[in-house]
Amino acid sequence: MKGVVLAGGLATRLQPLTYVTNKHLLPIYDEPMIFYPLRTLIKAGIKNVMVIVSGPHSGQFVQILKNGKELGLDHLEYGYQENPVGGIADGLKVAEDFVDGDTLTLILGDNTTDADISREAASFKRGAVMFLKKVPDPQRFGVPIFSKAKKIIGVVEKPVKPPSPYASTGLYIFDSRCFAVAKKLKPSKRGQLEITDVQNFYIKEGTMQWHELKGYWHDVGTFDSLLAANLYWARKRGIKI
Ligand code: DAU
Repeated sequence: MKGVVLAGGLATRLQPLTYVTNKHLLPIYDEPMIFYPLRTLIKAGIKNVMVIVSGPHSGQFVQILKNGKELGLDHLEYGYQENPVGGIADGLKVAEDFVDGDTLTLILGDNTTDADISREAASFKRGAVMFLKKVPDPQRFGVPIFSKAKKIIGVVEKPVKPPSPYASTGLYIFDSRCFAVAKKLKPSKRGQLEITDVQNFYIKEGTMQWHELKGYWHDVGTFDSLLAANLYWARKRGIKI
């Protein structure tokens, strides 16, 4: 299985911090944000990884990650997304040749979690997996729709009236058909190729599995969530704040 980390976007909500660097290189306590999703992959045994970058500060990723060996990766490649805000499914397309028909775990570069997905990654064969987390504000995320039998029958991006209290986290397992699906997508109302549309392909096909993510999970897109992530990880390392 290959790993893909998406670290594009422009992070305008975090300006002025992101005037001088990419959001995923901002500190979460004592490490750059991008280390956290990479460690999630490494913990799951996935050490052959592509980091997809874009935007004005792309070169800084190489200065920090180098060839990935310091962090424990076997192989690190970089991909470049032409349009930094083309959407998550647009960024995913960049990894097609790297994945080369294999299976993949995709993680968004601003997702930090201490969950262990090694079992799900090791047993994965075909279809897709989504990882869910109960949240107080599901309208900010992709939200699953459940049938009475607790089967997922759809996922909607940022619904005004969330159909369930769960967020689809930015952690996904796909087979390599996700690239053909992503290539056929049309931009959504917000002008992006949506990862939820890729998920809906597998849900319709009946090959989507889901798991509730155990442990801490959050994405970091605002000053408040950046502060919360810093506090969580500092305290987890025994710092008294
Ligand atoms: O974090 C989980 C959520 O992530 C999911 O619940 C949603 O279904 C999914 O669409 C996504 O929503 P966000 O609104 O949080 O996406 P955002 O635009 O903030 O981008 C998330 C990450 O993906 C961020 O680290 C930057 C990267 N990204 C984003 C875009 C739009 C790219 O690499 N390229 C892109 O074109």
